[in-house]
Amino acid sequence: MKHKIIVAKYAGFCSGVKNAVETAFASAATADKEKKIYAYGELIHNESVNQKLAEQGVCVVDQIDAIRDSKIIIRSHGVDQQTYQIAEQNNNAIIDTTCVFVKRVHNIVKEHDAAGYQIVIIGNAKHPEVIGISGWCENAMIINSLAEAKAINSAKPLCVVAQTTLNDDLYHEIAGYFKRQYDNVLLYKTICAATRLRQEEAREIAQKVDFMIVIGGKNSSNTKKLYEISKKICKNAQLIQNFNQIDVKLLQKYVTIGIVAGASTPDWIIKEVILKLKNKGEVVINGK
Ligand code: F3S
Repeated sequence: MKHKIIVAKYAGFCSGVKNAVETAFASAATADKEKKIYAYGELIHNESVNQKLAEQGVCVVDQIDAIRDSKIIIRSHGVDQQTYQIAEQNNNAIIDTTCVFVKRVHNIVKEHDAAGYQIVIIGNAKHPEVIGISGWCENAMIINSLAEAKAINSAKPLCVVAQTTLNDDLYHEIAGYFKRQYDNVLLYKTICAATRLRQEEAREIAQKVDFMIVIGGKNSSNTKKLYEISKKICKNAQLIQNFNQIDVKLLQKYVTIGIVAGASTPDWIIKEVILKLKNKGEVVINGK
């Protein structure tokens, strides 16, 4: 049987992750022996990239209080304001790879907090990006469902932002509620374009195929969202980290297969998955 494979156009590294990875490798290559380089948290949700960075001398740390006289890479997720202060007090040089789209959210919450708004962040309270955003204002409320939005009772005007990888549908559900409920609410749809395009394409492809493969790290928020979206539409969906997890036998029975990948999935991992499928039977990829 000839299999038709549809590979997403918007798959793999987004601009923010690409910048973080390239900056980290460049910093490691030009490192002086005097200063050690640390990454504050894993740079991206991909084991092989993190492994390569470790081999180049970039150590991952979860606490920076004890780091002194070194270089610290802030990853694309960003951090709270206090983390910069601690790093600087301890005489560290900061290599800041906070994604510009995340930085924009920091600025929005800081500015509107100072102007007297109640900041509401729609997102996962445990995710480092959301923890970082909430650290740029005094009292952020973090919600992740319509029910939590309905529980808010604020006398202050609201300023609402979203985790950059939030599911578009959830944002609209909650934003629609706030619009109806509050006279004075500022809504900032801060979901980044890379996330939106990947989610839209996952929706589109999932409607056309019998099986969806979602490639990405198990801790990657945007990959998980792609999987949830795919699974809702195409019940045969699988999240894999690399080509080793493909069940070729299982795939034999499906004629059309879709491939999407999260923003922290390197190109070569996507290529390896396609190659494995190519080697196991007759396939047509994106109509060719
Ligand atoms: Fe930035 Fe969006 Fe990527 S916020 S890190 S471009 S997923």
